[in-house]
Amino acid sequence: MFDSEFGRFTDDGREYLVSRIDTPRPWLNYLTNDVYGACLSQNGFGYSFYRAALDVRVTYIDIFGYVPTHPQTGKFVYLHDVGSGRHWPLAPLGAADLREHRNFQCRHGLGYAIISAEREGIFGELAVLVPRGRNPVELWRIRLVNKSGRRRRLRFFPYVEMAMSCASSMTDVLTYTRGAWRPELGAAVIRMTNTTSPMTYDAFMGGDYPARGWDCRRESFLGTARTIQDPLVPELGRCARSSVSAEQICTVVAGELTLMPGEEKSVHVVVGVSHRDADIRRLKRKYAARGAWERELAKVQRYWDGVLESSRVRSPSKLFDLQANVWLKYQSQFTSRWVRGGDKGYRDVLQDLMGSAAFDLAWTRDGLRQTLGNMFASGLCPRQYSHYGAGDDLRLHRDSPLWIPLALDEYLRQSGDLAFLEEVGPFRDSGRGTVWAHVLRGLARLYRERGQAGLCKIGDGDWNDSLNEVAVKGRGVSAWLTIGAIYAMRVARRIAEAAGDRKNAALLARRIAELDRAVNRAAWDGDWYIYAIDDDGRRIGSRTNHQGRIHLNCQTWAVFAGVARGARLRKVLATIDRRLSTRFGPVLMHPAYTKYQRGIGKVSGKNPGMAENGPVYLHGAAFKILADCWLGRGDAAYDTFERVLPQSRWSTPAWHGGEPFASHRYLIGPSCPERFGQSAYPWFCAWQAWMLVLAPQWMAGVRPGYRHMVIDPCIPRKWPGLTLTRAWRGATYQVEVRNPRGVQSGVAQLYFDGQRVAGNLVPAPKKRGERHRVLAVLGPGGSRPSMA
Ligand code: GLC
Repeated sequence: MFDSEFGRFTDDGREYLVSRIDTPRPWLNYLTNDVYGACLSQNGFGYSFYRAALDVRVTYIDIFGYVPTHPQTGKFVYLHDVGSGRHWPLAPLGAADLREHRNFQCRHGLGYAIISAEREGIFGELAVLVPRGRNPVELWRIRLVNKSGRRRRLRFFPYVEMAMSCASSMTDVLTYTRGAWRPELGAAVIRMTNTTSPMTYDAFMGGDYPARGWDCRRESFLGTARTIQDPLVPELGRCARSSVSAEQICTVVAGELTLMPGEEKSVHVVVGVSHRDADIRRLKRKYAARGAWERELAKVQRYWDGVLESSRVRSPSKLFDLQANVWLKYQSQFTSRWVRGGDKGYRDVLQDLMGSAAFDLAWTRDGLRQTLGNMFASGLCPRQYSHYGAGDDLRLHRDSPLWIPLALDEYLRQSGDLAFLEEVGPFRDSGRGTVWAHVLRGLARLYRERGQAGLCKIGDGDWNDSLNEVAVKGRGVSAWLTIGAIYAMRVARRIAEAAGDRKNAALLARRIAELDRAVNRAAWDGDWYIYAIDDDGRRIGSRTNHQGRIHLNCQTWAVFAGVARGARLRKVLATIDRRLSTRFGPVLMHPAYTKYQRGIGKVSGKNPGMAENGPVYLHGAAFKILADCWLGRGDAAYDTFERVLPQSRWSTPAWHGGEPFASHRYLIGPSCPERFGQSAYPWFCAWQAWMLVLAPQWMAGVRPGYRHMVIDPCIPRKWPGLTLTRAWRGATYQVEVRNPRGVQSGVAQLYFDGQRVAGNLVPAPKKRGERHRVLAVLGPGGSRPSMA
């Protein structure tokens, strides 16, 4: 599926087969459990991490920018043929190897990566996985097959560089690290004793074979004036048996195998983190054992079977199915656990929880508890908090609390667990309150802290972190934030109604009306809504600006917050469709800033087309899709969905450049014409969490409500229909949508278990194990649920 010169998806969509090492960017897969992760590209480049994806790097990576280029180190295996004295890396590492290796392939799967190639009559395979659970290890299986007609004696050298660092800079960390072969443990162990760092730990490598040598000092393994492309030890066929102290570190545990013609053998390597020697013994015993790799792979696969089974769509679009059924879930599982580097971005965590609510309610509930526990009693929330002791980022971005009802609503609708609202938990500084009290306090604070023209004060910032100078004097306000508050209050009002809290439902309704009046009075700019008003009353995102004139998010949010109505709604849509749409999807802002402007902030200093400065930001594209679905614009919603993905028919894999199986934070914007549409910053974004909500619930239109399942498809008019099977509160709903008249939305006829029902709602299950069939026939004049 989606074959290109670089590879393809398998027919079941669960693996991507990369056929070349020279993809435009490294195509990374992130293999993780709850505490540890290994990231690697198709030829093993990448790094491993513990507790925080970017900041606590167990193994080293030399380059990792917003637009990652091929790095220079990773997880490799080198081979040495004792008979011929020849040596080679198991998989090709660079251009020079391309002529020598044959049949290269990397299978990037869900929780594992398998790299293989043939050279010198030896088929070699390096298979890496991270086991389920909470053990901080990665497991390598090295499999060698003798395809030559003669007996071969082969030495193998698994290699990884250790970083042991809590930051990307190695300089300081190295003076605290030392490592050596520990015969009593059968492992190369590196110790880090920097007590000022948030975490100290050992890293180790051990195998299930007799060690024929080891190395811990990178320079001894590589040799001087050499790189990982031509290391000395594999050339000599003999380790230097080096230990290391305050120098660049590697771990290598060498072994030897003899293979008869046609014979195949496997060995296993465990790489990981430990806090005491006993951990290493335990982890080696558990994982460097016969059959352990296969057993752990089966567990990983069973886990993913469960996640994938939670909902399955079949539509006329292979791309939609591939994303909704497999890869949005995979990436969402990753981001919901690993989000950002060391710190948990308050809003980021909450949005990622929206995604994980689709398949992991326990995780989502715990995440909600954690974020609520980080709210101050005042209702304010920090920009980021740390979960491993790196220190918190206490800037007060005022949007933080508005994401709480959004994530909570997802959790409640999916689970039906309204009792959670009454659960009592702490505020970060003092006092305790119920979940619901936290929600109300956050929104009340947002409502109270209004300034110029009755709009919400932006404080240290809002969704757009880079508009960070709007309120340096404390007076700046944000129209987007006010619209965001309205949307969050609408969602909270739904929760209040579901929970029977009429008083707060009414209070929220009054506040929504008041904020709506303020936005429509102060933020309307003629054809669109402005973004903000700075300390000195200057309008940002206005036709009076030369740069940054129109910001997408205020327009899309104005649609689904119900703020833009009538003629204004039509103008907002025209602005989105005519002024912000591009070949690669909607731009976040137009035109990009070209020079730094005081009072706006760092966005104006960023390169045009990059980060928040006018790219196609996928998070913004997801908001745009919600706006389309809100209005029943099925063609527009799907069009945006397709344009921003690597499989876009308006792009090519070579031009897009990034992993076909991942989402990318942004595509470079039109103000950087020579790179317009190329991917930047894969994996770490919020698109997939939003799309995991939007694709099944708003596009396919099978949306759990509080007491009903809402059936509200919003699809391209040329789709004849689709089916979606999903688990909900222990029951299974099998929904078929037919579109005989070629409309984009509107249910003309609805059947629940064969019985005709009026409107858009079918009942929630009464007990677990129920199976229900739903048939929805779309048609002109068909009904849509109330969006109020
Ligand atoms: C990054 C942040 C996200 C923020 C966005 C825009 O994606 O993680 O929280 O909203 O940038 O600044």
